[in-house]
Amino acid sequence: MVPPITNDIENIVSSWQLAERAYLVKANIIREILKISQRPNTISFAGGLPAPELFPLEQIKAACGRVIDNHGAPALQYSLSLGIPLLRKWLAKRLSSEKLLISEEEILITSGSQQGLDVIGRVFLEKGAVVLCENPTYLGALQAFNAYQAEYVTVDMDDEGMITKQVEEKIKKYKPRIIYSVPNFQNPTGITLSENRRFELVELARKYNVPIIDDNPYGELRYEGKDVPSLKTIGGDIVIQLGTFSKIISPGLRIAWLTANKDIIGTFERLKQGTDLHTNTFAQYVVYEFVRTGALETHLRKLIVSYAERRNIMIEEMEKHFPEGVKFTRPEGGLFLWIELPEKLSATDLLSKAVDNGVAYVPGYPFFAQGGGHNTMRLNFSNANPEKIREGIKRLGKVFKKHI
Ligand SMILES: Cc1ncc(COP(=O)(O)O)c(C=O)c1O
Repeated sequence: MVPPITNDIENIVSSWQLAERAYLVKANIIREILKISQRPNTISFAGGLPAPELFPLEQIKAACGRVIDNHGAPALQYSLSLGIPLLRKWLAKRLSSEKLLISEEEILITSGSQQGLDVIGRVFLEKGAVVLCENPTYLGALQAFNAYQAEYVTVDMDDEGMITKQVEEKIKKYKPRIIYSVPNFQNPTGITLSENRRFELVELARKYNVPIIDDNPYGELRYEGKDVPSLKTIGGDIVIQLGTFSKIISPGLRIAWLTANKDIIGTFERLKQGTDLHTNTFAQYVVYEFVRTGALETHLRKLIVSYAERRNIMIEEMEKHFPEGVKFTRPEGGLFLWIELPEKLSATDLLSKAVDNGVAYVPGYPFFAQGGGHNTMRLNFSNANPEKIREGIKRLGKVFKKHI
């Protein structure tokens, strides 16, 4: 008889020699906070989740049926690393406009934009390579780039987004490999980069030949104000754009895309291959069958009405319940807004008090690549329904009033 294995597994694994990156990449704080905020009766503004009751369940069910009926076995087969041609062709047409022509050869389908960020890391970054980014910036990008041991040079923001007049000096001094920006309704602040600043940024990127990563998951979720031309439209080949169906159909599908000049797409394709060979074939067909009928446009209109209402309610309630000294952004779109508390308060210390009062948020500090932001926090307004938003903001207001 084989004797049972009695070794203590913790002892075994704790002495394994891991790669440097395994120690560098910390747990994503948002995922940790999501665990706390799942306590019963807690109203959470912490995640970045779309509203589950708005998922187009019936249309996705019908699209799944059409995938089998119209495409059969190939929908369950290995497929091209670049992505299925039908979806790439559809995207090329949708992304193209009078001012920007995108071809199918310039599109790589990815497993979420998060994988797009990882592939960008694989292609551009290594130990000590510099990323120039907004301050604060998307935490998931930092997590993806940290695995490649990137370093960060940050550019401050105001209500027009990245302050481009800081950029040239930083490019000259630190020679970044890429400029990373979330120009539309930024995660975490909700701020949009103004049109003038977009032109300035593109001009600098061209002058020093540094590619801009235009990470754009929220561009289609505008609730007020005028559309601003995208960095990709303004900058063309100097810009690599990431787009995703996560916030406009469903994040669980994990279907997104990366758009770049066709001379570099092959490099992205090669470096993506090692991670997953290709993005989920079936899910790509499901998305294709959903969008080709025009269902996306109808669905987007519904999302915009609903998210605009939630944003408006959140802002109204904040105006009613927050004490003086608490500042917040009023985003024209997206899923998030940003709060700045008086300097003396720490959003991290307040979190446990907020959770005790049945409301959760994400402290802002992890979004700052070079430290700072202890008195800031991010709130999501898409996931909770209006009634919960009203109650949650009232609870948060009480916590603020008690500690200010
Ligand atoms: C700025 C930004 N980039 C990328 C992502 C990742 O999105 P996906 O679900 O497509 O991986 C998110 C998700 O919240 C995001 O906010």
